[in-house]
Amino acid sequence: MDQVKYTGEPMDTEGTGLRRLTKETVKKLIHYSQEAKKQAYCPYSKFRVGAALLTVDNCLFTGCNVENACYNLGVCAERNAISKAVSEGYTAFKAIAIASDLSDQFISPCGGCRQFMREFGSSWDVYLSKPDGSYTKMSVNQLLPASFGPEDLDMKKVLDISNEY
Ligand code: THU
Repeated sequence: MDQVKYTGEPMDTEGTGLRRLTKETVKKLIHYSQEAKKQAYCPYSKFRVGAALLTVDNCLFTGCNVENACYNLGVCAERNAISKAVSEGYTAFKAIAIASDLSDQFISPCGGCRQFMREFGSSWDVYLSKPDGSYTKMSVNQLLPASFGPEDLDMKKVLDISNEY
């Protein structure tokens, strides 16, 4: 595991199936989300968040929240991790772990991040964690039921609007 310092490095996942993670792998993923949390740039909210994303090829991408003096430009940890992966050519994911400093609550992703996750499928897992390493698992579909996704754009319409206005 010590070799997993950089974005996109393979993560040792101990003989898991396509999307099933062993308890040990979940523990590691949460550990990496806690490490990513240490990089949080959150001078305005003082609310640190870290995320660790595992691709189906067992590559790891981490992210933290990055805020801005122009408040609405801040980016969440989850979106940063996903964008890092996508920009390196990875779009199929097994799971993402999220960490914050909330002692008594599992950190829950914001609505925007749920939609951002859903872009890459509904049947992968989100591990919502606490600083003590405890967690609860929810699928993207559970977090965002009846969602709108890329497939919907190709569904039958009553009217096709041409691009020429
Ligand atoms: N934040 C995240 O990065 N992920 C979440 O799941 C919830 C919220 C960030 C956004 C902002 O920088 C700070 O936490 C407070 O909302």
